[in-house]
Amino acid sequence: MSNEIETIKDPGLPAHVHRRADTDPKAAKKAERQVAILFLLSALGTVTLIGSYIFIPSDLFIFFPILGNTNAQQLFLGLGMAASLFFIGMGAIHWAKTLMPDEEVIIQRHEFRSPDEDREAFVATAKAGAAAAGLGRRSLIKRSLGLSLGLAGLSPLILLRDLGPLPKDELSKTSWKAGTRLITDPGDRPIRAEDLEVGAVAQTLPELPAGKERVLSDIGKDAVLLIRLRPQDFNLDAERLSWTHEGIIAFSKICSHMGCAVALYEQQTKHLLCPCHQSTFDVTRAAKVIFGPAARPLPQLAITVDSEGYLVAKQPFTEPVGPSFWERSS
Ligand code: FES
Repeated sequence: MSNEIETIKDPGLPAHVHRRADTDPKAAKKAERQVAILFLLSALGTVTLIGSYIFIPSDLFIFFPILGNTNAQQLFLGLGMAASLFFIGMGAIHWAKTLMPDEEVIIQRHEFRSPDEDREAFVATAKAGAAAAGLGRRSLIKRSLGLSLGLAGLSPLILLRDLGPLPKDELSKTSWKAGTRLITDPGDRPIRAEDLEVGAVAQTLPELPAGKERVLSDIGKDAVLLIRLRPQDFNLDAERLSWTHEGIIAFSKICSHMGCAVALYEQQTKHLLCPCHQSTFDVTRAAKVIFGPAARPLPQLAITVDSEGYLVAKQPFTEPVGPSFWERSS
C-alpha cells in the first residue's frame, strides 16, 4: 500500500474572485492613493503627539465634551498616538487587501523539514512577493510609509526629555529659613504658642514674602505639623529639646517612607500615624519610627518665637524631607 496521499480532486472551494485593483489599473491607482492617505493621517497623528508634548503646557486644562475639564496636553498626546497607530494599521490592512498579491495556492502536506529545493523556492517566492507588493514601483506608498514609520519610531525618543533636567538640590531644599513664620493652613494666620492647647495639632506652612505665590510642588515639601505636649513628656536629647518651644514640637508632615501626608495623631499614645502603610512615629522621641516600613524619623523643624511672640523657624530643616532618593546622603 502506497504512503502517498491522494490529492482531493475537488475540495469544494468557491471560484476565486479577483479584486478590481487586480484587473483595473485605475482602481489600483485609487487604492494606492487611499493607502497613502491613511499613512499620511498616521504621520499627522504623530506630529500632533510630538507637537502637544513640546508646545502645550502640562498644566493647561480645557473643556472637552463628555470628558469635561481635561488636561490639554494629555488629551492631545492620547489623540495623536491613537491616530498614529490606528491609521498606520488601517493603511497596512487596506494595502494588503487591495494591492498585495492575491493568489490562492494549494500546498501538499509533507515532512516538517522542507527539501532544499522547496526552501530555495520559498525564498524565491518571498522575493517575488515583495517585488509584486510593488514597494519598488509604488513610490507614493513607499515614501508615505517611510514617513509614517519614521515618525512613529521617533515619538518615543522625545519622551526621553522627561528624564531631565536633574533636580540638583531641589529635593533637599524647602522654603523654611531662619525666622520664617509658621502660618495656619488653611487660614494663613501666624501662630502664637498660646494658640495651641496641650494635645492640639495644627498643620502649618511657611509664610511667604509679600508678592510671592505658593507653588503646589513646594507645599509637598513645606507642610509641617505642630504638636503641643507637656514639656515633661519629651524624651529628647538637649539639642532636640532646644528645637521645641514651650512643649510645641514641629515635624515635616511628609512621610519618610513614600511621601504620604502623615495626618493621624493619637493624643493618648502621642503617636503620629501615616495612613498609607501605617508607619508610626513617636512624637515624644523626635518622631522615632516605632512601627511600619518608614526607615527614618520625620525631620524635626527647630522652632522658637520672634519679637512679636509668633512661632518662627529657628533654622531650615537639617535634612531632606520626604522619602529616600538616590543622591540622599543620610
Ligand atoms: Fe507613609 Fe508609606 S508613605 S508609611
